[in-house]
Amino acid sequence: MINPFLKQLSLSIEQTLMSQSLQGMEWVVAVLQTIHILAICTLMTAMMMSNFKALGLLTRNHVLYPLASALKVPAHIAIFVLFLTGLIMIIGEPARALLNPIFQLKMILLIAAIFCSIYSAIAQKKLANDYFGNSKTQLTHKLIAVISIGLWLSILFAGRWIAYT
Ligand code: HEM
Repeated sequence: MINPFLKQLSLSIEQTLMSQSLQGMEWVVAVLQTIHILAICTLMTAMMMSNFKALGLLTRNHVLYPLASALKVPAHIAIFVLFLTGLIMIIGEPARALLNPIFQLKMILLIAAIFCSIYSAIAQKKLANDYFGNSKTQLTHKLIAVISIGLWLSILFAGRWIAYT
């Protein structure tokens, strides 16, 4: 069922000058998608590194270990770029995204993934300062990392799936 608020919002956006200008410029959408994909690469690398670290698959002596911390700032920039490019794509074709249940699912999964990542970041900091961290805390941390990987992969899949629904 189509949400009347989202339908009205989509119609209002469609009538704006910015939306109408974007509708005639397919190349702008291609450029935005390219930037969106580059930001996805950055964010996904950072998220996977951080979760592999939490799972103990990326250990201190591994050559890629320092990359997990080095990607913190780029990951924050990437999420901002994703939001910005996604927003402009929505303005260009509001009904395609806003009224699509897969897009709505992607946004819900994104909120859940961000919460998991924040929890994980706080837990990693606590664990780093606690040499005697109990095994229950570590297990919860690993469980959150597995859920987080699942969420990020589902977001990727949903992002691609929008085009076919
Ligand atoms: C932050 C808010 C985000 C917004 C508002 C947003 C919005 C969008 C929109 C409107 C599209 C175009 C869909 C279409 O018409 O086919 C798209 C594509 C896509 N998004 Fe996002 N997105 C966001 C974040 C993310 C994140 C975090 C990921 C993955 C980690 C992601 C993965 C994808 C993928 C894989 C595509 C398909 C790209 C392509 O095939 O060209 N998005 N996104």
